[in-house]
Amino acid sequence: MRRGSLLQLIALTLVAFAIGTAVAVFVPWLPTPASREAGRIWFSYWFTIWICLGIFSIVAAVLIYALLKFRVKEGDLSDGPPVHGHTTLEIVWTAIPFVLVTAIAIVSAIVLAKDSRAGRNPLRITVTTEQFAYTFTYPNGKSYTDALRLPVNRHVVLTLHSRDVIHSFWVPAMGQKSDAVPGLNNSIVVTPDRIGSYPIICTQLCGLGHAYMRNTAIVMSAADYATWYGSAGSTPPPAAAGGGAAATFTSSGCSACHAFKAIPGAAGVVGPSLDKLKAAAAAAHEDLAAFVKESIVDPNKYIAPGYQPGVMPPNFAQTIPADKLDQLVQYLAENTSG
Ligand code: CUA
Repeated sequence: MRRGSLLQLIALTLVAFAIGTAVAVFVPWLPTPASREAGRIWFSYWFTIWICLGIFSIVAAVLIYALLKFRVKEGDLSDGPPVHGHTTLEIVWTAIPFVLVTAIAIVSAIVLAKDSRAGRNPLRITVTTEQFAYTFTYPNGKSYTDALRLPVNRHVVLTLHSRDVIHSFWVPAMGQKSDAVPGLNNSIVVTPDRIGSYPIICTQLCGLGHAYMRNTAIVMSAADYATWYGSAGSTPPPAAAGGGAAATFTSSGCSACHAFKAIPGAAGVVGPSLDKLKAAAAAAHEDLAAFVKESIVDPNKYIAPGYQPGVMPPNFAQTIPADKLDQLVQYLAENTSG
């Protein structure tokens, strides 16, 4: 190959590499990692991306060079020269990808192994999923549906359960992700390393409310977490507002789908607002308390205009004890604002 051609090829390679690198580096494809596991996963992504960029620039340069250099001349109808392969070239382009793919496999295997290590004393939290809410249960037995609070720099094992269909648990910034499958106890390890709030997203199509099945992971300093876990943590905030009924409301996951001013954090939009219960009872031509009870135990009997049947779980008569249900009905009827 002539020296000039080689220089042209190298120049094309550098241009392709620069364009590829700009697309990879200047577009924010990944969130800033918020856990040690995500840091390792991002490393394996970048390891693979740099290899791909190298291969891409060489292939793109050769392709562009060949297109420009070996373009057929005007009026030339002759056949090209016969080519019979090139053994050395074939060995090289088999050996190099083999080495690269093996390297990617080794790096990924190490990352996977490290990311499933929970250390000696992890914090164990049970994540219960249902249409369309998350419930987080801590070692002291307390459950929360408003947020998943985690201390920074401590291994956390999240064990995922489902009460109905397949859901999933994913905090994009923390990298780790798993399905919550009825009958299985899938678990993932996260070690948050950045204080802040991060969205939790369900990534399995689980019903009409799937898109709204979101929550928040709040990573706190060790001191803040200890304070929350020790004090506020022992009395869930809603319990102060409405006693047992508010606790039933929260633990049954109502706030994931319904807005209700009396309960801090109840701002769901999947179902109708519970601050319009009087108007809804009037529209259904029913007494308020009877209407509220019916709407909980037989949710498909009256469907508010603009909403669809079959979204609200129909089994609350079985999952909420009768006395708690009556308390809840009374609480909703007394506290609805319109
Ligand atoms: Cu739960 Cu999608």
